[in-house]
Amino acid sequence: MIHYPHLFSPIRIGNFTAKNRLLMSAMSINFGVDEKGHVTDQLTEYFTARARGGVGMMLVGGGAVHPTGLELPHLPALWEDHSIPALKRMVNAVRAHDAIFGVQLMHGGRKSYHDNKVAPSPLPAPAVVKGIPRELTLEEIKELTHAFGDASRRCREAGFDFIEIHAAHGYLINQFLAPNSNLRKDRYGGSFENRVRFLMELLDDIRCEVGADFPVGVRINGEDYIENGFGLKEALKLAVLLERKGVAYLHVSAGVYGSRQLTIPPMYAAQGCFVHLAEAVKLKVSIPVFAAGRIRVPDFADRIIREGRADAVAIGRALLADPAFAEKARTGRILQRKCQATIGFTYANALNATLLPSTGG
Ligand SMILES: Cc1cc2nc3c(=O)[nH]c(=O)nc-3n(C[C@H](O)[C@H](O)[C@H](O)COP(=O)(O)O)c2cc1C
Repeated sequence: MIHYPHLFSPIRIGNFTAKNRLLMSAMSINFGVDEKGHVTDQLTEYFTARARGGVGMMLVGGGAVHPTGLELPHLPALWEDHSIPALKRMVNAVRAHDAIFGVQLMHGGRKSYHDNKVAPSPLPAPAVVKGIPRELTLEEIKELTHAFGDASRRCREAGFDFIEIHAAHGYLINQFLAPNSNLRKDRYGGSFENRVRFLMELLDDIRCEVGADFPVGVRINGEDYIENGFGLKEALKLAVLLERKGVAYLHVSAGVYGSRQLTIPPMYAAQGCFVHLAEAVKLKVSIPVFAAGRIRVPDFADRIIREGRADAVAIGRALLADPAFAEKARTGRILQRKCQATIGFTYANALNATLLPSTGG
């Protein structure tokens, strides 16, 4: 008997076909790299376990395109070619298990953990992160645009199947997009066209570096859920632009630090609390759209796809809690999963590792 036939049907995205519609969403887990930011066997084992556990697509989280953009100290550094051999070893180990494997590229901007923070405007991040970032010069913006392109090329060279650009959750790209974090008076601030310019330019740079056929997805916020943030109306306009730009898929999330709705929704949030945002985006584009946010059980994930609200679902914490979540669901053994709640826990406990407190997203 086929359990959850919609969730476990293949999906074509860009030039790849994933065996099911379940993406392990990007999570900056802050371990599994050495002091240079090169991935170690620990990260390889982490992903191999989830690939073996039947997930169709996976993303390495927190791939930093530039030293100024490290969100947390122990994330993959993608700003130099020396990172490629270790990435390649991880890709080769994971490849045996039939999962489509990608990397999320990000720059933390004012939400980076260190003191050399940069941002579109010198405004501190709301909540959690301390310190005032330095305003980026036009030259530095260009440098960061190229950093995204160069990091993308490295990911392709390492053998990854795709990349995702993190334009959500209040990190650098989202800081350019949102009026409340971008007070610039030049061509990168003010109007919608100016605020999306950094994202559009870095996508051009990426395309030059990786070629026409390499799938590039983008994670956007459907709503920042904060005053004067990036809202649904502009997100829908952006979605159309991104489709025209040739992105392979859109992944719709929500929230920034300090927002009314949390990016990593706690147990009092409704299951699938951001799905309506993906649904709204899906009505505007014909490329695949991913829904995310407290999708905890396969019945619900299957229903999202069956009802056409999204083409695929992204799941985070349920896959931290149980690497075999997907295979257990597919074979009708979901009640045997390790954590029935997969909510309200610290990921340090879930991974049995000593980590920084989670501010992540
Ligand atoms: C430990 C942790 C780290 C995260 N890091 C990222 C990240 O680097 N990039 C990102 O887009 N989302 C990040 N997120 C958010 C998840 O991708 C996901 O959207 C969120 O956890 C909601 O999904 P869930 O309810 O299935 O966990 C993180 C979440 C957690 C729990």
